[in-house]
Amino acid sequence: MMDIIKKIIFPFCLLAAGISLCVTAVSATQKNTVPVVQPEQTFQIDQFISPDTCGDCHAQIYEQWENSMHHLSHKDPVYSRVSQFLRKGLTDAGEIEEAESCVKCHTPVGYVTGFPKKVSDDLSKTPEIATRGIQCDYCHSAESVRQIHNNGLVIRPGQGEDDPGVKYGPFDDSEPDFHEAQYSQLHTDSKICGTCHNVKHVAFGTDLETTYTEWENSAYNSPDPEKKIACQGCHMYQRPGIPATGSTPRPENPGSATDYSVERPHIFTHYFVGANTFVPAGFGGKLKATMAEERLKNAATVSVDTSKTGQKKLEITIANVGAGHCIPTGLTDFRQVWLEIIVQDRGGKTIYQSGVLDDNHILPDTAVIFNTVFGDGKGNKVINIAKARQILKDNRIKPNQRVIQTIDLPIVPEKDSRVSVRLLYRGAPQYILNLLPGEKIGPLPVVEMAKAQVKI
Ligand code: HEC
Ligand code: HEC
Ligand code: HEC
Ligand code: HEC
Ligand code: HEC
Repeated sequence: MMDIIKKIIFPFCLLAAGISLCVTAVSATQKNTVPVVQPEQTFQIDQFISPDTCGDCHAQIYEQWENSMHHLSHKDPVYSRVSQFLRKGLTDAGEIEEAESCVKCHTPVGYVTGFPKKVSDDLSKTPEIATRGIQCDYCHSAESVRQIHNNGLVIRPGQGEDDPGVKYGPFDDSEPDFHEAQYSQLHTDSKICGTCHNVKHVAFGTDLETTYTEWENSAYNSPDPEKKIACQGCHMYQRPGIPATGSTPRPENPGSATDYSVERPHIFTHYFVGANTFVPAGFGGKLKATMAEERLKNAATVSVDTSKTGQKKLEITIANVGAGHCIPTGLTDFRQVWLEIIVQDRGGKTIYQSGVLDDNHILPDTAVIFNTVFGDGKGNKVINIAKARQILKDNRIKPNQRVIQTIDLPIVPEKDSRVSVRLLYRGAPQYILNLLPGEKIGPLPVVEMAKAQVKI
């Protein structure tokens, strides 16, 4: 069946079991890119059950998910402002198609029920349930994955509260009173995350986000089941005080899925904490901001080798010890992970500095920054991902990778000089936030991921 569908070029709808499945093939404007086939499913909005209803029984899980980045994916002010800004003034058809596509992942329940289909739709008319982002009934209706990018989840929601249908999850012996339950291998696999956490430009095929692929190619995707750690193995083991990274313990979380069901050895947590401290805090999710700091502080290490300062060289080693993907991952043209380096002589006078934010919170161009830079296809940097036709730079730190950065000092530092190096994280560059129309956003919090201080 899928083979036949993949060959069809024009929009095509198929009626099966009352579900209409529409298939559109998106044209590839670059000769050597494979067309991105995007079959589309359509449902009625009242088929979806509110997270509040799920929360009536799964109270703890609801509390963890509330004000997570998944809950906030539609309301997130940084996302909303950036998506509106990127859409403005575009004329190229492929660029417009990309700039309109955001709602597919950020407002998925709206997208699969027909509104919004585009960023330029009147989003104030978004049905209330769809404003609640990536929610219980969306993930737990997922049956399979059609493609591991641009949200290829195939879902089968029920018919609303009167007939909730099957909720898919990790248990093979669950007998809930409200809905049916079924074991789903997919829910235990990184693929359920990867389908949204791999983002390709819809027209040009450029890899915009590659978190799943980075994990897939890492040692965390071990063929040995004892050593394999899926996304869930870190992100759905975290709880306050237990960051559950590659460099910290990931103990099980015994408990029960509702307050009246059986004790299980592990209940997967639903905080979905990454690195975002700013957005959850703005919605009263201060705990999630703290948990994001705990995650960032257990992701990397830095160390300094001063043995070559006589040749005016400083060697800094940065190691990704805790993340199952690159540091940074996700929107890595946007995220800032950089080195702040300060060298002071015996008397405390600064003889060298790099990566120090200026008074307007702008990071100087000379800073050592680990990121991705997109280009327009002719070698010029672009900040609008809708225009991204090529990758100009990618020096991010891969899982378990150790990177040595050599710094040229202006002079030979005297004995007893002090070197301070910090690896810092910030969600977005201030100069881009300054371009967004309307009320100013920022400065965003800067989190110290790791530091090293040595005397020469
Ligand atoms: C009336 C109470 C109730 C409501 C409302 C409810 N559930 Fe459940 N659910 C349960 C019980 C009880 C279990 C069984 C837990 C166990 O087996 O440990 C369960 C189990 C599950 C499982 C595990 C299934 C498996 O086989 O792994 C998932 C997933 C789930 N619920 C999702 C949801 C979602 C999504 C909603 C909202 C659409 C929801 N639940 C609403 C009571 C409820
Ligand atoms: C981004 C997708 C996603 C969202 C949103 C989500 N879940 Fe889950 N949930 C999962 C996955 C994946 C698992 C199983 C993890 C595994 O087995 O590795 C899970 C496990 C569960 C379980 C089994 C018990 C446990 O926690 O281990 C229940 C019950 C459940 N979820 C309910 C909910 C409810 C209620 C909500 C909304 C408040 C929700 N989920 C939101 C993906 C999601
Ligand atoms: C070995 C543990 C581990 C695994 C496995 C893992 N992560 Fe992470 N993740 C981390 C740590 C630590 C951070 C914080 C450092 C960072 O931002 O990279 C993080 C951060 C993130 C962020 C925020 C990124 C940013 O820089 O803003 C996202 C999104 C994310 N993870 C998604 C995923 C997905 C999706 C998978 C599976 C494909 C996954 N993670 C697998 C440990 C892990
Ligand atoms: C339907 C698409 C979708 C699925 C499925 C999905 N995610 Fe996400 N996820 C998103 C989006 C969109 C955001 C960002 C929301 C925002 O920043 O506005 C996000 C954010 C996150 C973050 C927070 C990143 C940060 O910077 O703090 C983490 C962690 C994360 N997801 C992990 C996972 C894991 C683990 C899974 C699988 C169990 C998963 N996601 C499944 C779309 C998805
Ligand atoms: C295929 C799914 C997908 C699509 C389509 C998508 N995103 Fe996202 N978006 C994500 C995921 C996953 C994250 C979280 C990654 C991270 O935190 O690094 C995210 C995070 C973001 C953030 C960070 C928000 C914050 O608070 O820091 C912005 C901004 C954003 N997306 C903008 C957009 C725009 C604009 C579009 C459309 C042009 C878009 N996204 C389309 C999956 C998607």
